[in-house]
Amino acid sequence: MNTPQDDAAFTHLDRTQGNPSELSRHSPATVTARAPGKVNLSLRVGGLDESGYHPLINVFQAVSAWEEIVASARRDDNIVLTVQGPGARFVPLNETNLVAKAARALQKHTGTHFGASIHINKGVPVAGGMAGGSADAAATLVALNALWRLDLSETDLMTIGATLGADVPFSLFGGTAVGYGRGDELVRITDAGTYHWVFALRAKGLSTPAVFSRFDELTPQGAALNECDNERLYAALAAGDATSLGKLLHNDLQIPALDMAPDLRQTIETAHDCGALGVLVSGSGPTIAVLARDAEHAVTVRNELLNAQVCQDALVAQGSVPGAHLV
Ligand code: C5P
Repeated sequence: MNTPQDDAAFTHLDRTQGNPSELSRHSPATVTARAPGKVNLSLRVGGLDESGYHPLINVFQAVSAWEEIVASARRDDNIVLTVQGPGARFVPLNETNLVAKAARALQKHTGTHFGASIHINKGVPVAGGMAGGSADAAATLVALNALWRLDLSETDLMTIGATLGADVPFSLFGGTAVGYGRGDELVRITDAGTYHWVFALRAKGLSTPAVFSRFDELTPQGAALNECDNERLYAALAAGDATSLGKLLHNDLQIPALDMAPDLRQTIETAHDCGALGVLVSGSGPTIAVLARDAEHAVTVRNELLNAQVCQDALVAQGSVPGAHLV
């Protein structure tokens, strides 16, 4: 993670245990950070445990759909949110927003009394199964760590992030990785390729807990969690072989998500007709992730999906990209 170098931009706030009235020349007045959305290349879901979560073997790839957070210093300890971008009207601007929760978690962890005005620029679909809210939280942790000069390590931020949501640590981590447990115990995966994705967006989102509940109804004991099942996938990534990767994409949440949103079958069929290397529901859906042959093919697939009117919008992105960072 970078530290801003431009002294001209530094006006306020300097100490971890700071009080908003303590002004300094040495802290930035405004900090911008961004964090990536993700696609799940393989999501294997075990049976519900007593904590209300499912054990996972979750292979993530960070993609170039970015959430951007612009955090500005305040003279009080309030957290004030604004938002713009696609789906912004669905984003709550109160304490339930993961951005506010991330800021409060940092205040609590460090004892700081600094506040911030935080603007969210949305680039990841809302409630789309691409972890847009988690990316907001990850970018907020990175931005406020710099704005408030907290000097927390990446490991500290990942530990705090894990308390906010299962996908937050991966948005900090980035690249291609496998997550165990709730999906937050991350191990990096060797990945030699660049992959060209099209994400077909649905007008109405799906709730992640509702999709997991439907999974429980359909598969009460969960899927078998066998690491060997991912070996060919890891080999395809190590070789940068998009054609093999396309055949190995897997998501145990696809059946419950399609059960709750049957119209997605048409989107999937159309994507296959466009010559996609692979197609699957992204995470808990309802976004459909389409792996294209190359950058040009991705644009063609996007246009064909839009022409066929099988999605509300479609965006093109590449993977993998780095995790949350200052810009
Ligand atoms: O951790 P996060 O807030 O992203 O999870 C949202 C919901 O998804 C959880 O409340 C839980 O119902 C479900 N979930 C799960 N097992 C996981 C991750 C999420 O059941 N490993």
